[in-house]
Amino acid sequence: MAKKDLKILGLSGSLREGSFNKKLLALVLRSAERHGALVSEIDLNKTPLPFYDADLEAREGIPSNVQAFKKKFLDADGLMIATPEYNGFFPGVLKNCLDWLSRRSSIEDPILSSYSGKVAGLMSATVGGSGGIRSLTALTTQLQYLGVMVLPRPFSLVHAAKAFSDGGTLSPEYLSSIDEMTSSLIDTLQKLKQD
Ligand SMILES: Cc1cc2nc3c(=O)[nH]c(=O)nc-3n(C[C@H](O)[C@H](O)[C@H](O)COP(=O)(O)O)c2cc1C
Repeated sequence: MAKKDLKILGLSGSLREGSFNKKLLALVLRSAERHGALVSEIDLNKTPLPFYDADLEAREGIPSNVQAFKKKFLDADGLMIATPEYNGFFPGVLKNCLDWLSRRSSIEDPILSSYSGKVAGLMSATVGGSGGIRSLTALTTQLQYLGVMVLPRPFSLVHAAKAFSDGGTLSPEYLSSIDEMTSSLIDTLQKLKQD
């Protein structure tokens, strides 16, 4: 399996235009590209989702934006998710997206098909000194419940406002940690694909 056949999908839990998590995700996806993977991204700001509502689902089915995201998830081998920490947890907008993606599009659609066989690398950037470790723990629990294999050692960025340069990059030490996570995801995906 050539690395270029591996597809990695990026998702940020922040809607904010100048989001540090979006910047972090951009660096990670660039690193994955350098490693030969094919990358794509979901932008929850550009493609907003309604709040999950069982009545809406019963009335109108799965919204078209959710269907489009689901297609991207089904198509991806690996996930890279960057999440802010809001009050010790990952943001509701990310939970809402994960909940919608857990819904079956038809009776033929296997349960949790969006997540089946996926491997995820997680990261968090915070302006304070926590590095989002609580949101990463919560997100790991959530993704494992959904059937996603989560890589150990998520990337945690503290004091993000100081860590990023004006051009949106990080120090060589941080970039090397990001590269390690990308390599780890790609190596894991390659091993899984060989079996
Ligand atoms: C509602 C809210 C709650 C927050 N809670 C936390 C928190 O629990 N821990 C933390 O380290 N930072 C917290 N922050 C600060 C975020 O880390 C900071 O706003 C960060 O820049 C958000 O990520 P973004 O830049 O990707 O949007 C909180 C921010 C908001 C708006």
